[in-house]
Amino acid sequence: MKINQQVPVALAAVLLLSTVLVAQGNKSVSAGLAPAPPMGWNSWNKFGCNVSEQMIKDMADAMVKSGMKEAGYQYVNIDDCWQISRDASANIVPDPQRFPHGMKALGDYIHSLGLKFGVYSDAGSKTCAGRPGGLGHEYQDALQYASWGVDYLKYDWCNTTTQDAKASYANIRAALDSAGRPIVLSICEWGTAKPWLWGKEAGGNLWRTTGDIKDRWGGAEKWPDGSCCSNGLLGIVDQQVGLQSYAGPGHWNDPDMLEVGNGGMTDTEYRSHFSFWALLAAPLIAGNDLRDMRPEIHDILTNKEVIAVNQDPAGHEGERVWKNGDLEVWAKQQSDGSRALILFNRGGSQQEITARWEDIGYPAGVAASVRDLWQHKDLGKMSGKFSAPVASHGVVMITVKP
Ligand code: GLA
Repeated sequence: MKINQQVPVALAAVLLLSTVLVAQGNKSVSAGLAPAPPMGWNSWNKFGCNVSEQMIKDMADAMVKSGMKEAGYQYVNIDDCWQISRDASANIVPDPQRFPHGMKALGDYIHSLGLKFGVYSDAGSKTCAGRPGGLGHEYQDALQYASWGVDYLKYDWCNTTTQDAKASYANIRAALDSAGRPIVLSICEWGTAKPWLWGKEAGGNLWRTTGDIKDRWGGAEKWPDGSCCSNGLLGIVDQQVGLQSYAGPGHWNDPDMLEVGNGGMTDTEYRSHFSFWALLAAPLIAGNDLRDMRPEIHDILTNKEVIAVNQDPAGHEGERVWKNGDLEVWAKQQSDGSRALILFNRGGSQQEITARWEDIGYPAGVAASVRDLWQHKDLGKMSGKFSAPVASHGVVMITVKP
């Protein structure tokens, strides 16, 4: 008798729970994703639309062989142009010439190397390169991605006409969650509708804060349609000022993917680029050809001390704490109470830069151990400040630990 009475109650509880889960898009699936800024590689900056199964497999192999995997890089992400059409059932179709064995086989290969698999789509009707977008097919695509073993989705913002950004990204997040596979959601809305204000609530794990990065030091370039802009390194860095409080474990500001090694900047400038992305707790998504890296580029991308700053578990984003013309000091709080610092010289000749303890939240008189993260050298205990000559367009990156 008792048992019979409990069955309907238990059934009702299960029904209620599943209704709540469906209504919430089963958020628990994606809980805890991207506890530190995602690290990986993406095809766009170097290869644009020239993507193929073989190239992506080669890149995954190179990620292992080069020591990138060992340094923490994990995601192998295909950007635009893998998709060519929709079939009679409206399923998204990968380009059969370029991906002859399909996306599941590619995902399996990437997983077999202990790496993770990412794809790209768009919240609008078409991607930026004019391929089919996700609009109206979000749940169907999410199921497809889950069946291929996708771990990371970059979702772009082209051809979205009057769509609401937050609602569109919340919709794809709910679709991904209901497909039952934990998938990192990379919001690629270029900062237009200030995604740092709503990206976390929409279920994004990272959101672009700017237009596309260009492999150049300074300046900005308008798009062919006259809209603004793709940015050099300086423009991107400047646009991060004031955004630091929006970043944290699971939800990161994304100043776009790395250009390190693509040839448009000097090694000194690439070292600055990588140092900033680390200090800004930015996703470290390499964008160069991993199959043939010069040793200098390899050493930048795999500098474990700089990567440790990026991956610090407290998840603080660094901020600019001092500026005088071309000279700047940036600082990031670390979980062990230390600070990571960048002394940055934007100018055309070498200059001495001083970082003062009172600018980074320490009492002026305190003695602190200083370590240089590019020279891999302890510089000793310093009281009150640290000064160093900094090359033109270069950085000195240190940790300061009282
Ligand atoms: C937009 C994005 C880029 C890249 C291209 C692909 O411009 O911002 O990062 O994904 O689309 O077409």
